[in-house]
Amino acid sequence: MKSLFITGTDTDVGKTYITRGLAVTFRKIGIDVGVMKPFAAGRAEKKGYKSKDIVMLSKAAQACDPEKLVNPQFFPIPASPYTAWKTLKTKPKISTILSSFKKLSKLHEMLLVEGMGGIMTPILKDYYVTNLIKEMKIPAIIVTRSKIGTVNHTIMTCKMCEKYKIPVKGIIINNFDDGYPVAELKRDLQNLTGIKVLGSIPFIKDMSDSSLYCIFKENIDLKTLLK
Ligand SMILES: Nc1ncnc2c1ncn2[C@@H]1O[C@H](COP(=O)(O)OP(=O)(O)OP(=O)(O)O)[C@@H](O)[C@H]1O
Ligand SMILES: [Mg+2]
Repeated sequence: MKSLFITGTDTDVGKTYITRGLAVTFRKIGIDVGVMKPFAAGRAEKKGYKSKDIVMLSKAAQACDPEKLVNPQFFPIPASPYTAWKTLKTKPKISTILSSFKKLSKLHEMLLVEGMGGIMTPILKDYYVTNLIKEMKIPAIIVTRSKIGTVNHTIMTCKMCEKYKIPVKGIIINNFDDGYPVAELKRDLQNLTGIKVLGSIPFIKDMSDSSLYCIFKENIDLKTLLK
C-alpha cells in the first residue's frame, strides 16, 4: 500500500486536476487507487459527496468509499480549516482525519490525498498542512504553475517541506496558463530546489478518461512517481 500527498504552491494551482489525471492513469495501468481530501471547504454539492473535489476525484479513481473516510470534515465556507474553525466554531479533528486515512489506505493499493490550499495552510494554531503530512508519514508531490512568480512560490514550498522533513517525490508543473517557457522553468526549478520535476501538464480541453490517460502517460515520469 502506497500513499502520496498532493500539495501545491497555492489554492487553484491545479491539485485536483493533477490528482484526477494521476488517478485515471494509475487505474488504467491496473493499480487500485483511492482518493482522499482530509478537509474540504466551500459550497456543498447537492448530491453525493459534499466536496466538489471529492466528487471529481472519486469518479476518476472509480472508488466509492464512505464520505467519513474520503472527506472526514467539510466546512461550508471557502476558508482554511483554521479560519473555518474560528468562524463556524467547529474545531478541525486531526485524530479523526488520521484514523480515516489509516483505514482508507488499507482499502487500496495506492491512495492519493489532495491537500488544502498550499503547504502552510493553517489547520490549528501552529499546525499546518506540513504537520498533517508529517503525521501521515507519506511523501508529497508539489503542483506548481508556470505563471511568473511561480519560482518564488515553489522554492518556499520546497523549503518548508525540507524544514518539516517531508520527502518530496517531485514537482509537477501545471502549465495551464501563460508564463515561463516550460523547459526553462523545469531546468531552473530542478537546479534551484534539487527536486526532480516529474513533468508538465498542458491546458486540458478534454477531461475524458482516455484523454487524461494519454496526457499523463506521455508527460509524467510515472516510473519515478511509483518507485
Ligand atoms: N491543466 C489544466 N487545464 C485546464 N484547466 C485547468 C488545468 N489545471 C487547472 N485548471 C483550471 O483551474 C481551476 C483550478 O484547478 P483545481 O481545482 O485543480 O485547483 P486546486 O489546486 O485543486 O484548488 P483548491 O485549492 O480549491 O483545491 C480548474 O477548475 C480549471 O478551471
Ligand atoms: Mg482542489
